[in-house]
Amino acid sequence: MCCSVKWHPLTSETTSSPNVSSTLAKMVDQAPSVAMEAVLMPSCDLPDDVPKIKGYDFNQGVNLKGVLDSFLTTGFQASSLGLAIQEINRMIEKRAEPVEAEEGNETSSKPGCTIFLGYTSNLISSGVRESIRYLVEHKMVDVIVTTAGGIEEDLIKCLAHTYLGDFSLSGKELRLRGINRVGNLLVPNDNYCKFETWLIPILDQMLLEQNTEGTRWTPSKMIHRLGKEINNTDSVYYWAYKNNIPVFSPALTDGSLGDMIYFHSFRNPGLILDIVEDIRRLNSQAVFAKKTGMIILGGGLVKHHIANANLMRNGADYVVYVNTGQEFDGSDSGARPDEAVSWGKIRTDAKPVKVYADASLVFPLIVAETFALHADKLTAGNKAD
Ligand SMILES: NC(=O)c1ccc[n+]([C@@H]2O[C@H](COP(=O)([O-])OP(=O)(O)OC[C@H]3O[C@@H](n4cnc5c(N)ncnc54)[C@H](O)[C@@H]3O)[C@@H](O)[C@H]2O)c1
Repeated sequence: MCCSVKWHPLTSETTSSPNVSSTLAKMVDQAPSVAMEAVLMPSCDLPDDVPKIKGYDFNQGVNLKGVLDSFLTTGFQASSLGLAIQEINRMIEKRAEPVEAEEGNETSSKPGCTIFLGYTSNLISSGVRESIRYLVEHKMVDVIVTTAGGIEEDLIKCLAHTYLGDFSLSGKELRLRGINRVGNLLVPNDNYCKFETWLIPILDQMLLEQNTEGTRWTPSKMIHRLGKEINNTDSVYYWAYKNNIPVFSPALTDGSLGDMIYFHSFRNPGLILDIVEDIRRLNSQAVFAKKTGMIILGGGLVKHHIANANLMRNGADYVVYVNTGQEFDGSDSGARPDEAVSWGKIRTDAKPVKVYADASLVFPLIVAETFALHADKLTAGNKAD
């Protein structure tokens, strides 16, 4: 874009003076030209389609939808949130597009866009669990990746409550009372005792099926089974089981589930979880998808595991990251989408969005403006299943 200078108050003559007295006189009645030039430097014209910054006007009354709509033109992370909403709505639109039957095959039941949802464990400890459960209950996402706590905390919440505490509560005092802290959430240790009582007979049964029927357990098969056993409509994994949505968690032992599997291995040894079968199953979800979208809340394993699966198809088509990670330390958690483009995990022509925010604040808002807003379109096919 070429910049045409439209207005310039200073000329070279105004900056050169014949003698000291006239220079002093000019300094008295005229600002220094260098300052004038620096401050009043003319601008290039911006194209007409560049959005103009404008926030919500509360003279229009309290209208939360209006506030959300104004985010796109508010700037900073509000605008990133607005762009994330647009990107997810593109995924939803693409997902609803019919997939042409492959040669020699009947019409495929594949979605036009396979949506991968990933989230860290703490989000299931928090009330974001209910937003995630809504998406899974209504079959709005296709593949899930989370960490061990993201599985067990959902199941444990069906057995006992998690409470609101405070970030500043003393670890020593809490330990003496048998209360565990996740940020400003509190989880009584008794919850894990209840979880053990519930889980151990299921592990016994899984081992029996492995030994007598040759069942080869994988983390995703185990999560499917736990979702069936919990039999509670509050649970994310009950709905994942009911709707046959695969849930991957390759580090399933890094949490209370691992503690229970460890104890069980002394009492009744021999249970095997095969992560090789799961990596093939996960990668196939990306390889054979028509298009893919990634919605990744938080970083660490969940972020990379979904992105790496999408490398197998030369990159995801639509991408939204919501996390607080920064890139200066070279962490994968903090890496911006462009780093994943360099690896082939996001397509070069994608328009990925990263929202720098706590997902507990923004994900329910995102769901409100995307999946929940288009629930009729998204669930139209479900009733026929
Ligand atoms: N409730 C729990 O958090 C819990 C419970 C049991 C086990 N664990 C285990 O701890 C290990 C580490 O947990 P993890 O890998 O799920 O993630 P993590 O808690 O280590 O978070 C990874 C990164 O995600 C980002 N992030 C986290 N929370 C966020 C938020 N609210 N909003 C935006 N960004 C956020 C941050 O950049 C963070 O560094 C896992 O193996 C897990 O199973 C966690």
